[in-house]
Amino acid sequence: MGVILTTILSLLISSTMVHAAGEKKIRIGLSMDTLKEERWQRDRDLFVKRAEELGAEVLVQASNGNDSLQVSQAENLLTQNVDVLVVVPHNGVAAASIVEAAHKVGKKVIAYDRLIQNSDLDLYVTFDPVEVGRLQGMYALQKAKKGNFLLIGGAPTDFNALLVRKGQMEALKPALDRGEIKIALDTWARDWQPSEALKHTENALSKFSNNIQAIVASNDGTAGGAISALKQQKLAEKVLVTGQDADLAACQRIVEGTQSMTVYKPIKTLAYRAAEVAISLAKGEPLPKTGQSLNNGKKDVPSILIKPLPVDKANIDKTIIADGFHKKEAVYKNVK
Ligand code: BGC
Repeated sequence: MGVILTTILSLLISSTMVHAAGEKKIRIGLSMDTLKEERWQRDRDLFVKRAEELGAEVLVQASNGNDSLQVSQAENLLTQNVDVLVVVPHNGVAAASIVEAAHKVGKKVIAYDRLIQNSDLDLYVTFDPVEVGRLQGMYALQKAKKGNFLLIGGAPTDFNALLVRKGQMEALKPALDRGEIKIALDTWARDWQPSEALKHTENALSKFSNNIQAIVASNDGTAGGAISALKQQKLAEKVLVTGQDADLAACQRIVEGTQSMTVYKPIKTLAYRAAEVAISLAKGEPLPKTGQSLNNGKKDVPSILIKPLPVDKANIDKTIIADGFHKKEAVYKNVK
């Protein structure tokens, strides 16, 4: 009896081992710049959820804006034998060495949301950043029409900030050429800091004696900073302000009337697509045929560019709220 039991047991154990070995769990390394802003926590959660649903595990690291830490964290993920690296770079230039390190050990790298420059990057998955800027510029022009515009870009170390600005300028150029609008200030917010946007807006308001008609802020964090400066001058609700991300605070400002619009990027679409494609690359499947690419200074990187959506007071209910991105009670919390 004892012998039979032992045999059955050992058969069971070895069949489990074969099963486990036959279906080796895919391991994805997710290297993030920061988890401090609202959107990135959502990105992480949805990415991990989708990867786990598909049977993979995800090791996450965040470097809080520290370039050398992000590089060493990514190297550490490689030593933990991840099958593929997904990177949200703090600094698009510094992160090139992550691509090099991964390729040395035969692993592919996907840039998530932000492009990695001057490298042999395998794939870029993002909401189209040029389109984000275009939507902001077009909205500002449609509503403010003429006058002095402030441009508050994002972090100069984030290539997205430059692509967003490219889109803004494409939209604004015809009105600039016709002399209908003037760029009163063209500036950047280090690390996308709201405090930088606040400072730039204060300075511009004082320099132009409050004669500013629109603030093209590149994301909701910087829009928040600009709006604080407008409030000090009792100008909130009077000056057009753009944004990006549909942060809860921004959506509240939109229904309250202090922020004019945001560019809504339903994160689930991006996070799920990135997790799915990461698993496919980890399995050694060929790159998806995207038909799109963005040049990173070294090559045209195959890219998946997802379309973002402009949202203001008029369509917030049927977009952000209808999707469950934020709850209606939360968005309208301060509005009677
Ligand atoms: C992202 C934005 C975000 C910003 C600051 C950009 O690269 O595309 O969605 O607001 O970084 O984190």
